[in-house]
Amino acid sequence: MRLVLLGAPGVGKGTQAELVSSQFKIPKISTGDLLREAVRQKTTLGIQAKDYMDRGELVADEVVIGLVQEKLSLPEAAKGFVLDGFPRTVTQADILGRWLESEHIALDHVLYVVIPSEHIVDRLSGRRSCPACQSVFHITSCPPKLEGICDRCGAELIQRNDDRRETVESRMLVYTNQTAPLIEYYKEKNILTELDGFGAVDSVHARLVNVLTQV
Ligand code: AP5
Repeated sequence: MRLVLLGAPGVGKGTQAELVSSQFKIPKISTGDLLREAVRQKTTLGIQAKDYMDRGELVADEVVIGLVQEKLSLPEAAKGFVLDGFPRTVTQADILGRWLESEHIALDHVLYVVIPSEHIVDRLSGRRSCPACQSVFHITSCPPKLEGICDRCGAELIQRNDDRRETVESRMLVYTNQTAPLIEYYKEKNILTELDGFGAVDSVHARLVNVLTQV
């Protein structure tokens, strides 16, 4: 299964990608997670990316494409993968398409996750993330067992820099201008399905699995 999760910031792409990854035993490739890890490790790439991410802007196409191609080339991605947060621009989608074609493979599904826009700020402002293992929680909808502590690895949870209200606004604008055109792009390729991302995490996941197993 080769899957892309597309959608505005905070609609639940990362949460669902994690569930898909463990259910279908395919790697989750999240460009946001890869970039945040590079920032945490203070690699050259991380140092370059940090300011863009803190401002809610996109990191240069060639940087993220390089990161994704490296992961897609690993043996564990041979049977499939779920892409979270990539592609994010038409250029990224074109390059991904050409790379897949050169490998004689193709995307099976692009799921366009949608929630009512008035819930996006709540999801992002309530998000708490683990800087060590990248697990994601929410102070009300998916709280950790112990407040402020990651269930999976015990690290202290943080609020992402780009989840501040003013940055969320610029991320939404970037999404509308640069990423939303991918909805038409993948519709034209007949692989896009809209997924209602509103409701409990398990209900959304059940809807998602239904889509994947129907087609
Ligand atoms: P990235 O990390 O990809 O951010 P994003 O796309 O804005 O998505 P989010 O991670 O904010 O949200 P999500 O949809 O994954 O929601 P989540 O599951 O966490 O990118 C960050 C930055 O990196 C970008 O701004 C850019 O600078 C750079 N970048 C990344 N990729 C790039 C690319 N390809 N090109 C260039 N630059 C790139 O859920 C959100 C919250 O809601 C959580 O608290 C969660 O617990 C909760 N939640 C989830 N599902 C539910 C539910 N069903 N009900 C209630 N709460 C829920």
